[in-house]
Amino acid sequence: METSKETTDRAVVLVVDDSPDNLTLMNALLRDRYRVKVANHGEKCLSVANAEPPPDLILLDIMMPDLDGYEVCRRLKSGSRTRDIPVIFLTAKTEVEDEQLGFQLGAVDYITKPISPPILMSRVKTHLQLKAVADFLRDKNEFLERQVALRTLEVQAIQDVTIMTLTSLAETRDNETGNHIRRTQLYVKALADKLRTHPRFEAFLTERNIDMLYKSAPLHDIGKIGIPDSILLKPGKLSAEEFEIMKTHTTLGLDAIVKAEERLGLKVAFLTFAKEIAFSHQEKWDGSGYPQGTAGDNIPISARLMAVADVYDALISRRVYKEPYSHEVACGIMLKGRGAHFDPDILDAFIALSEDFRDIARRYSDE
Ligand code: C2E
Ligand code: SIN
Ligand code: SIN
Ligand code: FE
Repeated sequence: METSKETTDRAVVLVVDDSPDNLTLMNALLRDRYRVKVANHGEKCLSVANAEPPPDLILLDIMMPDLDGYEVCRRLKSGSRTRDIPVIFLTAKTEVEDEQLGFQLGAVDYITKPISPPILMSRVKTHLQLKAVADFLRDKNEFLERQVALRTLEVQAIQDVTIMTLTSLAETRDNETGNHIRRTQLYVKALADKLRTHPRFEAFLTERNIDMLYKSAPLHDIGKIGIPDSILLKPGKLSAEEFEIMKTHTTLGLDAIVKAEERLGLKVAFLTFAKEIAFSHQEKWDGSGYPQGTAGDNIPISARLMAVADVYDALISRRVYKEPYSHEVACGIMLKGRGAHFDPDILDAFIALSEDFRDIARRYSDE
């Protein structure tokens, strides 16, 4: 039992040597400044090193009967409780190979016998200081890693709640079940996963971006909340003026997300894709889409992926204004849009994945 703070605060130095004379000498040199523990053979060293409180530093003789210093060091370095304790070898041997083996085994230093007291004291002090710094950094690092993990979870939760809140607004009046949202989200993910190794898309389709696309996809038609029922729910074909109003669902969608962002009071990177998708999902590869008539690679990738997902789903679904098409007919219409409505490489991915699209459509059917 320790009695004074002064004693407990002192670093613990374990000296391991089979010679009682050496143990006595080292103890005499070190005991004024450190708490000294001694072991006169390898097994004893291992048991003291594993006991509480663990030593802060071990001075380890190499030439000992039974377990030699190298073997003891090997065992210390492979034990989870002892691997971070610095080891300094004490030896009468001066051959370079011995020093090298010692360092390979993880020793931090090497002191030759006969011991020079000033060298011993100076090396012990230096390595205890280094150990204190290493311990501090290790603890700090663990602390920071825990903080970052927590913070990431928090940020994730804020993102998810924000998108879900907005999505619940978007689960609109022109499709009752909400399955359209689920389906288009899964289509976008399937396309992105397929294209992540494609040279045109691999830089963009990181794991993080795919996750953000998946979460943002449900917001593509959020602007439809601003379209009057008389137009959105019109059973027949829209007039030219009505369709002009319908087209504003893209700019309305962007505005809605920008407003949400302002209300959150921060510029949120995770809504970038949601804004791109809402604003540009009706653009076409050949420039004949809306609201801007943007063409080709100038259309954000997010929106090009969304266009394929959205139109396929519109085709196979019942709308107030149309009957559902079969999967085969829908695929035929999609293929006609290759290089016209759709980015040809994304459309090819769709064709390659068409069975998966059909499965998603069946699993989350409206009927
Ligand atoms: P939506 O129903 O989700 O359709 C999205 C897109 O899928 C359409 O964009 C169009 O590119 C494609 N699409 C949907 N149905 C068909 C189809 O039968 N054939 C072909 N080839 N493509 C189809 P678009 O045309 O810009 O329409 C945007 C939104 O405007 C539609 O979203 C829908 O909400 C509304 N809308 C479009 N046409 C009509 C209509 O005649 N009547 C009514 N009530 N709404 C319409
Ligand atoms: C060493 O080479 O590290 C040991 C020499 C010494 O203790 O002076
Ligand atoms: C929605 O995104 O909730 C509706 C889209 C649609 O049915 O076309
Ligand atoms: Fe749309």
